[in-house]
Amino acid sequence: MSVIHKCLFPVAGYGTRFLPVTKAIPKEMLPILTKPLIQYGVEEAMSAGIRTMAMVTSKHKQAIENHFKPHLEIESSIQGTAKEPLLDEVNQIIKQCDFAYIEQQEMLGLGHAIYTGKSLIGNKPFAVILPDDLCTNDDDSVLLQMTKLHTQHPDCCIVAIEAVPMDAVDKYGVIDGELLSDSNNTWLVHNMVEKPSPEAAPTNLAIIGRYILTPDIFTVLENTQPDKNGEIQITDALMTLAKKGKVIAYQFQGKRFDCGSVKGFVKATNAFAEKLL
Ligand code: G1P
Repeated sequence: MSVIHKCLFPVAGYGTRFLPVTKAIPKEMLPILTKPLIQYGVEEAMSAGIRTMAMVTSKHKQAIENHFKPHLEIESSIQGTAKEPLLDEVNQIIKQCDFAYIEQQEMLGLGHAIYTGKSLIGNKPFAVILPDDLCTNDDDSVLLQMTKLHTQHPDCCIVAIEAVPMDAVDKYGVIDGELLSDSNNTWLVHNMVEKPSPEAAPTNLAIIGRYILTPDIFTVLENTQPDKNGEIQITDALMTLAKKGKVIAYQFQGKRFDCGSVKGFVKATNAFAEKLL
């Protein structure tokens, strides 16, 4: 059984790539078909046995909180009709999970967002899901694959990775390392670089938005210097732990849609629609 009980969702960002819709609607509330991105993320966390969702959010994102609360007026208006089951999934989530929220007051990078969630997490290993990266798999979800791997490496942080075209590496954290013996998908990480140019990238193995972090990451984040844009990067903090042999990269099974870009969002919509229609 997994020892990961909490998942952190950094969801405070402005989502400026999706303006104008993100003026009033959090990007995590944009739907793939009728379900918002954040719900896919929460469902993936649940599939890995997690029942506590820690949201690092901002004051403009009340809609996320509302989504994970009962809506009694709507419920009574659809009660006994064919539409009643449409709220079943989210109501099951509300019933089974605890949601905790903390406000990130300044946008100072993913490392800063994760550090902001410290008081919600405590001192146990935890998961992080970036809901922009929508992952699907017919078998175990990506996070479940990672929590299983975590039981074999309880002292290590784990990052999910995917091979991307070399000309796309500058959108990601990129790792380098050695394959663990008997494995073709699990690396012991030696090097990590945030958004390198293709020329400077050590490999094309890009980090995608799934992490399992050990609580010592918080102390490391406290001592991680901001990058040239003034942002504290989780990649830089993880590099500190990688130097001690404490970071593993896992090439997951499944498909990832980059819903942080309009193109990826449309691809995800089309793929989900194809299954439905
Ligand atoms: C963040 C991380 C990056 C990672 C990416 C995955 O970047 O900083 O290392 O590869 O998420 O989606 P962002 O997309 O927030 O710029």
